[in-house]
Amino acid sequence: GALFERGWLGTPIDELNRMPQCAPPLPHLKATHSHTVTIRTDFLREGEVPVPHPSKFKDAWDDGAVKMPCSEKNLFPMETEDGGGVQSRWELIQTSLRGGLKSSLDVRDAILRYNTAHAKKWDFTALNLLCTEYLEQSELQPLFDVVLPAMVELALSAPVLCTMPIPLLKSRMNHSLTLSQEQIACLLANSFFCTFPRRNSRKSEYNNYPEINFYRLFEGPSPRKIEKLKTLLCYFRRVTQTKPKGLVTFTRQTLNTPPNWESSKTLLKRLHVTCEGTIEDDGYGMLQVDFANRFVGGGVTGHGLVQEEIRFLINPELIVSRLFTEALESNECLIVTGTEQYSKYAGYAESFKWKDSHKDETARDDWQRRCTEIVAIDALRFRHFLEQFLPEKMTRELNKAYCGFFRNNANSKHLSAVATGNWGCGAFGGDTRLKALIQLMAAAEAGRDVAYFTFGDAQLMRDVHEIHTFLTGRQVTVGRLYYLLNQYSSSMCKNCRTTRPDVSLYSFIYERVSSPASADGPDSAKDSG
Ligand code: AR6
Repeated sequence: GALFERGWLGTPIDELNRMPQCAPPLPHLKATHSHTVTIRTDFLREGEVPVPHPSKFKDAWDDGAVKMPCSEKNLFPMETEDGGGVQSRWELIQTSLRGGLKSSLDVRDAILRYNTAHAKKWDFTALNLLCTEYLEQSELQPLFDVVLPAMVELALSAPVLCTMPIPLLKSRMNHSLTLSQEQIACLLANSFFCTFPRRNSRKSEYNNYPEINFYRLFEGPSPRKIEKLKTLLCYFRRVTQTKPKGLVTFTRQTLNTPPNWESSKTLLKRLHVTCEGTIEDDGYGMLQVDFANRFVGGGVTGHGLVQEEIRFLINPELIVSRLFTEALESNECLIVTGTEQYSKYAGYAESFKWKDSHKDETARDDWQRRCTEIVAIDALRFRHFLEQFLPEKMTRELNKAYCGFFRNNANSKHLSAVATGNWGCGAFGGDTRLKALIQLMAAAEAGRDVAYFTFGDAQLMRDVHEIHTFLTGRQVTVGRLYYLLNQYSSSMCKNCRTTRPDVSLYSFIYERVSSPASADGPDSAKDSG
């Protein structure tokens, strides 16, 4: 019971590495067999809008690339007097959207003209409510006079902006894709108007991809949808007012050979732990963890509104990853470098509110990307508390986190700290104390310090700090910790008949490491001394 409670413990946050200070110089940006770059790298200049490459639209309608709405293969069945035929769906999209959007009903009608199969199912209540109940007259007029027409033109400029086929980042691929922020804005405008073909049905060829068309955002009367729409319209207003001038890189990373956890001699690295602040505000320049769904972005275009969805809404360029990122496997992650924050928010989940436009002043790197690195790693969802202590589940989570944190050929001193928190412990029901340890182990193995945000939980802050101090003080290796986790699993969880074990994980670790009598692990003779 101290009178004065500190908001943080461990290493001061300013002693941890951040980008761009910690990074070595970048090599020249150039396309390779494992890196698709959709702009002219030779024309890339600070403060100038990147030039799309190639200069003419290259159509691809195969299973290696995103099927574009402006493809000439994108056809629409047409009813004619002599039976049926087909017409260009892109032409129909253009005439529908250019027909003049004067109200939310016009927006609905336009979208449904090229999505006739869904006319009975899609619901536009949220969009209607936004326009009739929530927005002031003074906001409605610029929306229909300026923003929406500009969004239409942005969407319809796809054949001149997004000229290179966009590769699908499929399972087991190690591939990077660099797009300009302007190209991303164009793609997202197409998402808003629901123009992407083959993406409206769960049974389609894209069933292992997240949803990209925004039709679910317009659905239902939930205030969540209103706030989501406000946040995204703020983004569209900004990018149509001033063209963004940077690039964003999306990297799918697959971990082929996981570390040998048992035999790891690695010691934990430094920890800053705080119950105040957030990953996005206070972890700037660090590797920021997205508490992801295997379908990246989770419920961002639907009802979801927790950590991942909120991040995708305030940094909407993240949403375009849903266009080309196949569901993540257990040994995969998606790393996104360069997205910009366009909105400020308040609240969380049910209480989430769009607050204001945000001017992102994050420095750009030599590739004109904002120095904001976000990694999507999806934890396992647990329905029963004990499940997560099964050895194979703990190893899966270790490997997933390690996949997110590890960088090939990187020197530890050049790696930014990991900014994370209660990964997998909200919607996915995990235990914060186990997950904190797992992330500390994975970060150590990847050579990175950790800034841990407990999101208001002061007790968790103290507990994680205490165990970290204890483990580093006793020089307990990652290998020994792994052994202890498995010991805890077999002696406390395996035959446990109640929903929770009698002894907590941290108590168990303190006891086993402190007491020489239970010298049991591979390194125990050394570590318990
Ligand atoms: N900074 C730091 N910590 C945070 C922040 C933040 N900005 N926001 C939330 N937390 P959750 P999960 C803390 O439930 O369990 C999504 O739908 C807070 O303590 O988002 O991994 C995805 O798409 C919160 O309870 O992550 C997945 O489907 C905890 O982090 C699913 O949720 C966990 O946040 C993933 O669920």
